[in-house]
Amino acid sequence: MEEFNILYKQIEGIIDPSLPLYSNLSNISAILNEMEDINWAGFYIVNNNELILGPFQGEVACTRIAKGKGVCGTSFLKKEAIIVDDVDKFVGHIACSTKSKSEIVVPIIKNEDVVALIDIDSPIYSRFSSKEKDFLKEVSKLISQTLF
Ligand code: SME
Repeated sequence: MEEFNILYKQIEGIIDPSLPLYSNLSNISAILNEMEDINWAGFYIVNNNELILGPFQGEVACTRIAKGKGVCGTSFLKKEAIIVDDVDKFVGHIACSTKSKSEIVVPIIKNEDVVALIDIDSPIYSRFSSKEKDFLKEVSKLISQTLF
């Protein structure tokens, strides 16, 4: 978590609960996109029990993901963070960009329900470890406490 202190502090500093969710998540996605070797960083928001594309940095992405589908829908269903070292080996992976080789998804949970997800893709295999997972879980907790 220590190596992520600067990013965490930037996120903490930028959050303004008086602004709409999209303003906050737009800036947070820009901060997350500062991580090295990333080609997509953003959010999916739960709406009517499906995932809808939220603010992000990167290429055009799929706009709706059903619960249980792809890495994001699986994280939504299981209420768990998921690290995928090789997206081609994840059955049902939804390829928004052929550049993405590995991925991490961390749910944002409010009152035991998933309300949104953080999704980050990398053009490098096995880019994400428990270090990124721990950091993003802290970011997720902060977002849940301040914006939902
Ligand atoms: N790969 C994701 C879809 C979202 S994009 O990576 C931005 C998935 O399998 O759910």
